[in-house]
Amino acid sequence: MEPRVTLKAMALSGVLALLLASCGEAPEAPPLPPDPLTSEEAAQAIALGAPAAGALGEGLLARLAHAIDSEGLEGATSFCSEAAIPITEEIEAAQAADLSLKRTTLRWRNPDNAPDQWEERVLRYLEALEGFDPESVPVELTAQGPGESLRYYRPLRAAPMCLNCHGDEGEMDPRVLDIIRENYPEDRATGYEAGELRGVIRVEIPQEAQTQGAG
Ligand code: HEC
Repeated sequence: MEPRVTLKAMALSGVLALLLASCGEAPEAPPLPPDPLTSEEAAQAIALGAPAAGALGEGLLARLAHAIDSEGLEGATSFCSEAAIPITEEIEAAQAADLSLKRTTLRWRNPDNAPDQWEERVLRYLEALEGFDPESVPVELTAQGPGESLRYYRPLRAAPMCLNCHGDEGEMDPRVLDIIRENYPEDRATGYEAGELRGVIRVEIPQEAQTQGAG
């Protein structure tokens, strides 16, 4: 009789676990970061990645602000379409180490910015953290990349100014929306609110570049 009781008890606890899991309440523990690095690798990824991510973030923001000032929102929208990736490549080339820079997100406007599988895991992790407790989202994180590469990530949040082109479609300038729809028929990057996680800057540190940052 003993085993039967045990089986029944096991089946019951299984049903209970299922019931509890489907309650849809906030998770009790924060999610775990994907593809973690050793502490030495992480230190190296931060040493090389943080300055490069800073240069890209500030560089793009300065050019965007300048484009809005000189060409208005419409001109700036076309400017973003044409110049964001070339500017990213320019800033990448200006780095001392041989790094690769990208902006990526789960809801992309430009399909060229869509995440690869490593980036997607990090973006899903950040979204899960945001759902668990927005305060727990780090300002930077590191993870393993493809092959022997290391990756540095800097989360980007939508500032009020960003909503001109990424906010509620009903509140956006229709001329800006027209340009976006024309250039990106499958755009997913509207509907953000101020403060919301918009994506990340990703810096990849290939194996050849890793010793450069060690000294
Ligand atoms: C004038 C319009 C405009 C403004 C303002 C604007 N963006 Fe964008 N954004 C675009 C366009 C157009 C693209 C697609 C071209 C590209 O950058 O690759 C884009 C792309 C992006 C991407 C790359 C991922 C994707 O969806 O393709 C990120 C990340 C991003 N924007 C974040 C921001 C943030 C953060 C702000 C505010 C600091 C901002 N944007 C302000 C027009 C704008």
